[in-house]
Amino acid sequence: MVREWDPRTAPAAEIESFLDAINSVLAADLPEDPLWENGMLREYLCEVMPGERRISWVAQEQPSVDGQPGAILGHVHVLLLGDIGVLEVLVRPAVRRSGLGRKLISTAARRTYQEGFRSIGVEVIGDTPAVGFYETLGFDREYVETRSVLRLSTVDWTALGDMAQGIAAGYRLEFCPGGPPEELIDAYARAKAEVRDVDGGDLELRPSSYDPQRLRDSLGCLHRRGMKPYIVLAIEEKTGEVAGLTEVVVPAQHPTRADQYDTIVGQEHRGYGIDRAMKARMLFELRTAEPKLSEVQTWNAQANEPMRAVNTELGFQADREWYEYGADVAELVHRLDATG
Ligand SMILES: CC(C)(COP(=O)(O)OP(=O)(O)OC[C@H]1O[C@@H](n2cnc3c(N)ncnc32)[C@H](O)[C@@H]1OP(=O)(O)O)[C@@H](O)C(=O)NCCC(=O)NCCS
Repeated sequence: MVREWDPRTAPAAEIESFLDAINSVLAADLPEDPLWENGMLREYLCEVMPGERRISWVAQEQPSVDGQPGAILGHVHVLLLGDIGVLEVLVRPAVRRSGLGRKLISTAARRTYQEGFRSIGVEVIGDTPAVGFYETLGFDREYVETRSVLRLSTVDWTALGDMAQGIAAGYRLEFCPGGPPEELIDAYARAKAEVRDVDGGDLELRPSSYDPQRLRDSLGCLHRRGMKPYIVLAIEEKTGEVAGLTEVVVPAQHPTRADQYDTIVGQEHRGYGIDRAMKARMLFELRTAEPKLSEVQTWNAQANEPMRAVNTELGFQADREWYEYGADVAELVHRLDATG
């Protein structure tokens, strides 16, 4: 019933059935989230960064008598990156609690083990059945973030205009739709690397790029997956250095809700209103560039008080907790074998 699935060559009807499955999951588990549409969904499911691999499986009903492929009931993939496999699984609500989720994880975990990976991670959305599911399978909760959502209809654009102007003298903002210009790629990657060294971070289940080539690859991968990046940079005028950056991605799969990715302000540039000004400017630019957009979502570590305070000022409202769970692959495979 579970078979390996290559979204690159899958019939269009299967991509549509995957879309229907993910939307049934969203309607059940995240009813406030926008449903997905088939904007570059095939590319979203198959494109990866150089050096990474994504292996997918589906659980599918039998084909109909007239040869139409059966509906996709469940799906799992593992993204093999660095030294970790990152899982994503979904099972249609109508067929849950019959062991399908467990079967999908077991298939992906076994393969991850065979591929020589030792640890496996997964993003789990708070207040959904996935929490009980992964805890039953023996995963450990390793990191907690809060997702917040900003509804553009609630934004006070006059106040936001003041925030966008409220940056200290000696800095200027630049809006870069599509990604940073080639001449700023090195400075951009340096800014990200510096903050990573100082601030540490999560388990890095989401891609982030700290060297220039990886950054180019990462931007290329986003574009191929139908995820349009927008960047606002703060430039220190006397040095030309990137003092800060904020990244938002508008995915073709849910173009009404954008994802706020990294926001970074270099250590020596903190305290000058850069974070607030960059994010405010970004919202202005998005309003023009993306007329379909109605919301922006972002994830913050609970310890990151300063950034959460700025987000609250902009109008973001905490929505739900978001976790990273992890497991040792060999132990997971043993456990799944032992418990049938
Ligand atoms: C998590 C998920 C994959 C589980 O699928 P499933 O087919 O119902 O899982 P299983 O039947 O294999 O459950 C295995 C065990 O996990 C545990 N479990 C599963 N759902 C649970 C729940 N709602 N609460 C508590 N424990 C749960 C149980 O111990 C279960 O065994 P049992 O039914 O014998 O008690 C499914 O709920 C799902 O697709 N959730 C959405 C995933 C998601 O968030 N995706 C990202 C957003 S699109």
